[in-house]
Amino acid sequence: MSVYTLKNVKKIYNQRNVALDGVDLKVQEGEIMVILGPSGSGKSTLLNVLSGLDYPTSGEIYYYKEKLNNKDEEALAEYRYHNLGFIFQSYNLMPTLTAFENIELGKTHQNDCDIEQIMRKMDLIDQKDKYPYQLSGGQMQRVAIARSLIKNPKVIFCDEPTGALDEKIGKIVLEKLQNINETQKTTIVLVTHNPSIAQIAHTVVKMNSGKIVEKYKNNKQARASELRWV
Ligand SMILES: Nc1ncnc2c1ncn2[C@@H]1O[C@H](COP(=O)(O)OP(=O)(O)OP(=O)(O)O)[C@@H](O)[C@H]1O
Ligand SMILES: [Mg+2]
Repeated sequence: MSVYTLKNVKKIYNQRNVALDGVDLKVQEGEIMVILGPSGSGKSTLLNVLSGLDYPTSGEIYYYKEKLNNKDEEALAEYRYHNLGFIFQSYNLMPTLTAFENIELGKTHQNDCDIEQIMRKMDLIDQKDKYPYQLSGGQMQRVAIARSLIKNPKVIFCDEPTGALDEKIGKIVLEKLQNINETQKTTIVLVTHNPSIAQIAHTVVKMNSGKIVEKYKNNKQARASELRWV
């Protein structure tokens, strides 16, 4: 089943800067989709309109059967809150809260979850009472993943999740994402300019100048731990 369906989606900034130039795309339930492309090709713009962080200029976007592009901002915020997790290059942690408290921020009122259990799964339990400035980059990113996980999202959107990390730590972060995909069947859409990461994807999408120029499936997914940055 498709989680997302995009039909002829365009995003034009300031009436002249064409960031998405007619994108048609389906994202399947339970897959890892990796979106590759050079700087400025429209990867983040695609992720932003897919996830309802921003509106397209034209075209249609469906989340299952629900049309997103004519929802108002409040309805979109509600949909993101209930269904989505976000992981960015910059972690976006609250500096005045501990690792535990940062993760707690991801809680929605309906769910009753065990933060310590998630911290154990992310190898963060020893970092529980530390503040972000006392954590390494890889630990901060795992706190961000744990924060997005505690509401058990349907989809996790990642924009350059390993962009600020070295290869070894980056692979640990990817391994955690791969585990979540396998154990919880969470759909993951991951944007990167690192072509090595495409090997963990079920589906790879390549962008250039606001268009999808290639889309293919991997018959077999590499383990994140086996990757080598090229
Ligand atoms: N808010 C904005 N206002 C105006 N132009 C924008 C805005 N956001 C993005 N753009 C433009 O849209 C195009 C696509 O940008 P986007 O951020 O999607 O690229 P990207 O593929 O994510 O690049 P990078 O790998 O550098 O992150 C670029 O030309 C960019 O300058
Ligand atoms: Mg980007």
